[in-house]
Amino acid sequence: MSGTGEAMTAAWASLRALPHHTLADLFAGQADRPAVMTRRIAWPVEPGSAAEAGMLVDFSKTHLGDEALAAFEALTEAAGFGAARNALFGGGIVNPTEGRAATHGALRGSGTDAQVEEAEALLARMGMLVEAIHEGALGEVKHCIAIGIGGSALGPALAIDALTRDLALVDVHVVSNIDGLALEAAFRACDPQTTLIALASKTFTTTETMTNAESALKWLADNGVDDPGGRVIALTAAPDKAVEWGVDETRVLPFPESVGGRYSLFSSIGFPVALAIGMDEFRHMLAGAKAVDDHFRAAEGRANAPLLAAYADQYYTRLRGCQTRAVFAYDERLKLLPDYLQQLEMESNGKSVTASGAPVDGPTAPVTWGGVGTDAQHAVFQLLHQGTHLIPVDFIASIAPGDDLDPAHHRILLMNCLAQGAALMAGKTSDDPARAYAGDRPSTTFLVDDCDAAAFGALIAFHEHRTFANAVLMGINPFDQFGVELGKAIAKQIESGQGDFDPSTKALMEAAGLG
Ligand code: F6P
Repeated sequence: MSGTGEAMTAAWASLRALPHHTLADLFAGQADRPAVMTRRIAWPVEPGSAAEAGMLVDFSKTHLGDEALAAFEALTEAAGFGAARNALFGGGIVNPTEGRAATHGALRGSGTDAQVEEAEALLARMGMLVEAIHEGALGEVKHCIAIGIGGSALGPALAIDALTRDLALVDVHVVSNIDGLALEAAFRACDPQTTLIALASKTFTTTETMTNAESALKWLADNGVDDPGGRVIALTAAPDKAVEWGVDETRVLPFPESVGGRYSLFSSIGFPVALAIGMDEFRHMLAGAKAVDDHFRAAEGRANAPLLAAYADQYYTRLRGCQTRAVFAYDERLKLLPDYLQQLEMESNGKSVTASGAPVDGPTAPVTWGGVGTDAQHAVFQLLHQGTHLIPVDFIASIAPGDDLDPAHHRILLMNCLAQGAALMAGKTSDDPARAYAGDRPSTTFLVDDCDAAAFGALIAFHEHRTFANAVLMGINPFDQFGVELGKAIAKQIESGQGDFDPSTKALMEAAGLG
């Protein structure tokens, strides 16, 4: 973002000139490669405790050798990564097209004193409301329908799914789609007399969310709830709009404008998560994220795990022409992680111009996709092993099991996870071409000690910083998303019937009864 164009062009030219080494060559030339290419980020098991838990990330099965790492470190320098990182945590304008800072780090204590203080005050306010609700201040609350979309839904949905397998203090249903089937499913699962509505929208203008909100209030009223408006909690960076819409000020939980939607899980957008898991667990989640912030701020070059992940991403996208990257969670609790990462990475870095508006120097964000292991092995891994696409894969697993069944379940899960990475790399020769595996296919493996709230927070922060680091290396602004606006505007034109529609769209409007 703040690098000079010429220095970056030169650094990219050196990278493009690098010779290609196979994974087998890299391992043959570096006996201690697994240790050299593995990073561990740790945090206290409990606040203040000396015992540590953590996450290791093994990059050894990527094609990053010493030469490539040195060239990426030169690019890091040329891109002005250090200054960009200081700006990120120092409240500088890192979103130049909207003239904004990006202060999601401050939500977990990583930012300027003023930002951290503001975030702590907002968190304390959210905590008081969460605890009051748990203590019955709003009557009996058994369910919550959390309405939002994109960044106001994907993080909460993932976190709740991941962290409430054993216990949910409140049963939360996240509804995002405007398709009424989504809201109807939540209605079926909730008792209107004991249901809260959490209305999450940074802008408080998003059509899908506001329409769903109206329908949810109507459902409460139709089912005999006296004061439906009194059951609404608003989570927003536009508190005035929420009040104007009818939410009582005492039930509006604001967050700063400088927190982007897809970076907002740790803000009041996380309210449904806190309602489900409790404030202590929510704070553990923040602590895990903070540990990654601390690492990301302090470590340089290849020692920095999210930056190293960005080196791998850039290597595959820009130097090897990979158009997708796959993420497989070998943990049911993280089955929504690929959906979350899709927005984080594709909405942030799916751009065609640099931060200063010039055309980019190569491809930007690949398509992020994925699934859950072992299911995906029996569905899509054929293409990973023998298809014509080269697809870098991330495997994510927890060393401790989440289930209480026979330990065989977790052992088989982990064995499969490791086997896939090994198979992709090793390949297999065969006289029969249909049975041959080319091998030399890359993967990165994340192992958390235990997939608890802190590890979860760490995984999210890791990917936020990886996304930022990728943007800096490409010179693009990851914090705007103008690409989503045109479709919204045309939908409005279709609604009003006022627009210069192409013949295909006109015909479809007729066919769909929208003409
Ligand atoms: O349309 C894209 C987007 O603006 C995302 O960036 C955002 O997370 C989502 O819509 C929801 O926006 P809001 O939180 O303002 O309702």
